[in-house]
Amino acid sequence: MSDNVVQVENLGKKYIISHQKGANTTLRDALTSSARAISRKLLTPFGKRMPDPNHQEFWALKNVSFEIKQGEVVGIIGRNGAGKSTLLKILSRITEPTKGQILITGRVASLLEVGTGFHPELTGRENIFLNGAILGMSKAEIKKKFDEIVSFAEVEKFLDTPVKHYSSGMYVRLAFAIAAHLEPEILIVDEVLAVGDVQFQKKCLGKMGNVAKEGRTILFVTHNMSMVESLCDRGILLEEGTLCLDGTSEEAVRVYLEKSYSLAQELPLNQRKDRTGSGRVRVSSFRILNEKGHEEQVLQSGKNYYFEIGYSNYIGKRLSNVVVGIGLVDDRGTLDLLLRSNFTNDYLTLNSDKGYILCGIENLPLVNGLYLVSMYLSHADSETLDHLQEVVSVVIDGGDFFGTGNPGLPNFCKFLVKAEWSTSHVHFLSHM
Ligand SMILES: Nc1ncnc2c1ncn2[C@@H]1O[C@H](COP(=O)(O)OP(=O)(O)O)[C@@H](O)[C@H]1O
Ligand SMILES: [Mg+2]
Repeated sequence: MSDNVVQVENLGKKYIISHQKGANTTLRDALTSSARAISRKLLTPFGKRMPDPNHQEFWALKNVSFEIKQGEVVGIIGRNGAGKSTLLKILSRITEPTKGQILITGRVASLLEVGTGFHPELTGRENIFLNGAILGMSKAEIKKKFDEIVSFAEVEKFLDTPVKHYSSGMYVRLAFAIAAHLEPEILIVDEVLAVGDVQFQKKCLGKMGNVAKEGRTILFVTHNMSMVESLCDRGILLEEGTLCLDGTSEEAVRVYLEKSYSLAQELPLNQRKDRTGSGRVRVSSFRILNEKGHEEQVLQSGKNYYFEIGYSNYIGKRLSNVVVGIGLVDDRGTLDLLLRSNFTNDYLTLNSDKGYILCGIENLPLVNGLYLVSMYLSHADSETLDHLQEVVSVVIDGGDFFGTGNPGLPNFCKFLVKAEWSTSHVHFLSHM
């Protein structure tokens, strides 16, 4: 197989999904489906299995084939539910493929969702040795790397604490440090880095860059398109479980963004499948209203707007303690604006069936451009109810932000901010 270190052939992964736990289950649905289940049992002759209408086969990956050479840094991108994590789990041998095969040459270290790869009852120290051993390293080799791992992860004080007591940030820091320092030949990283703080993300990027320079292979999943462009030689775009494009990272990012914008126009929010969360409450619509309450398709910098999120509550009773987030992502994939109700201690109470959440902002500070909106609903800061990433597109065009008729230089910057100018300190001492 020449210099390929990863070879994936016609890979397929099938899941069986149960509809009974779905978001749209009302009490009546539940009653009729259990009645159906009972009558099916009564009608089914012994030893014969009838197809169960509540269980459906679902292919998370279909016919995926590609090859990766030693030293390549590959970004794997795609919308929520595209199959990225499933692919990484199969490559890390955490799940079995249903079809096809993979061939991997070399030691693999993977960093998947928080929680995989660590033993919760063991201490940080013990987990370092355990993971090293899993990677096939000798105790002496691990000892040599030990101090570097601990200082990179910044967990000195907690080395002898079982990792189940770690915060999610500490967990990710240690997991990344182990995966990157134990000299794997192939490093596999899922979106987990998003959990760490920005400082640590930068450190990880630096480390991944170094790992790549040493000629080792990296596969990683991210929603951050600038990361893909700056770090990867190659991009693989997955779409609904199939390989949509395998090319340069620039090509993959461009096609991903183009598809995101056209998809954002097409599908009503309540029909979209590319969402995560428990589904107990779901976003059903999104509009932007001006001060008069009229819907606007094209926004202007400097004006006041209300974002209106329509929701459907499937719990059947009022729900308090709800946190809402709205994000605007620009055409490079950068999250430029993040509004979140808990930043201002706003916890909302939702109706028992459906209703609207409104969020008003003054003096829209973003410059001209095309943006995609993401929406997020969570309960009590813990349960994600619904998360839709980059699903509605919004155009900002023109406006008179400064109230002077001068538009500023919107091609040179992302934000507009009103400033005060003076040649005297006294001016500010008395004002600010
Ligand atoms: N254990 C599972 N059982 C059933 N469906 C699953 C399971 N894991 C993932 N899926 C489904 O497979 C699809 C792909 O999931 P995933 O690989 O996590 O996507 P991505 O990481 O690209 O967001 C999704 O529709 C998801 O709901
Ligand atoms: Mg994933």
